[in-house]
Amino acid sequence: MKEDKKRGKVFIVGAGPGDPELITIKAVKVLKRADIVFFDRLVNKDILQYVNREAKLVFVGKGDKKHSIPQEEINKLLLDAVKNYKNVVRLKGGDPFLFGRGGEETIFLAENNIDFEIIPGVTSAIAVPELAGIPITYRSLSSSIVILTGHSRNGKLPEFDWKAISKIDTIVILMGVSRRDEIAKKLIDNGLEPQTPVIFIENGTTENQKEIITTLSEVANGKVDVNPPAIFLIGKVVNLRDKIFKNKFNVD
Ligand SMILES: C[S@@+](CC[C@H](N)C(=O)[O-])C[C@H]1O[C@@H](n2cnc3c(N)ncnc32)[C@H](O)[C@@H]1O
Repeated sequence: MKEDKKRGKVFIVGAGPGDPELITIKAVKVLKRADIVFFDRLVNKDILQYVNREAKLVFVGKGDKKHSIPQEEINKLLLDAVKNYKNVVRLKGGDPFLFGRGGEETIFLAENNIDFEIIPGVTSAIAVPELAGIPITYRSLSSSIVILTGHSRNGKLPEFDWKAISKIDTIVILMGVSRRDEIAKKLIDNGLEPQTPVIFIENGTTENQKEIITTLSEVANGKVDVNPPAIFLIGKVVNLRDKIFKNKFNVD
C-alpha cells in the first residue's frame, strides 16, 4: 500500500497523424507536465516541442537491427517508470487504440494496478484521406467502411474473409504497403472490379505528403511504387478528390 502511493500515472496519448497541430489540447496539456515520455516511430518529432524541457524523452519505436521493441519490454519500461516518475506519457502515432497496441498496454497497466488515463488521437485512417480530399463515407457512394491491417505477426497477409471485405464500399488499409500487390489480387479474385480507384497517401498531413492515384489492377500487377508510411485506400470515394480540390489545385 505504501509503495502504491509513490507510484505515478501513465497517460496513453494519441499524437495524431503527423501535423503537429492535429493533436488534442488535452494531449498538449499532458505533455507539458510530463516527467518522462516514451514515443513511437510514427510520432512527428515536431510534436516533441510540446514536451516540457525537464522531461526525459525515450524513443521506443525500433530497437537494434530495426526490429520493433517487444511489447513485454515496453510494458516493463512503463512499470519501472511509474516507480520513479509522477507523470509518465506513452505517446503513439494517430489514435492509440487503432493498430497502436494501446489496448494491450492499458490492460497491462490495469492488471498491475497502475493508474492510467487514455487520451484519444486523430487517427491517420480517417484524417489522412480527409486531407487528401477523400471523405471515407459519402451518401450514394460509400455507406460502409472497413479498416484493415496488411501486417500480421507471422509475416504473412492476415487471414480475412476477403469475399466479405470486397463488398465494403471503402477499404482503408494500414501497414499495407509491402503486401499491396497481394491484397489487390485477393480483392479482385473475390469480386472487386479491377478498375476500382485506389489512392496511396504517403506521410499524410506532413510537408512530405505524397499521393498516388491508380486502380486495383495496376496495384495487383505490381506497377505502383509506394513508400511507407502510407494509407492504402480503395473505393469510388477516391474520385471525389477532383471535385473537392477542383478550385484549390486546378486538377481538371
Ligand atoms: C502501427 S499503425 C498505427 C496507426 C495509428 N495508431 C493511427 O491511428 O493512425 C501505422 C500505420 O498507420 C498508417 N499511418 C500512420 N500515420 C500515417 C501518415 N501520416 N500518413 C500515412 N499513413 C500513416 C500507415 O499505414 C502506417 O503503416
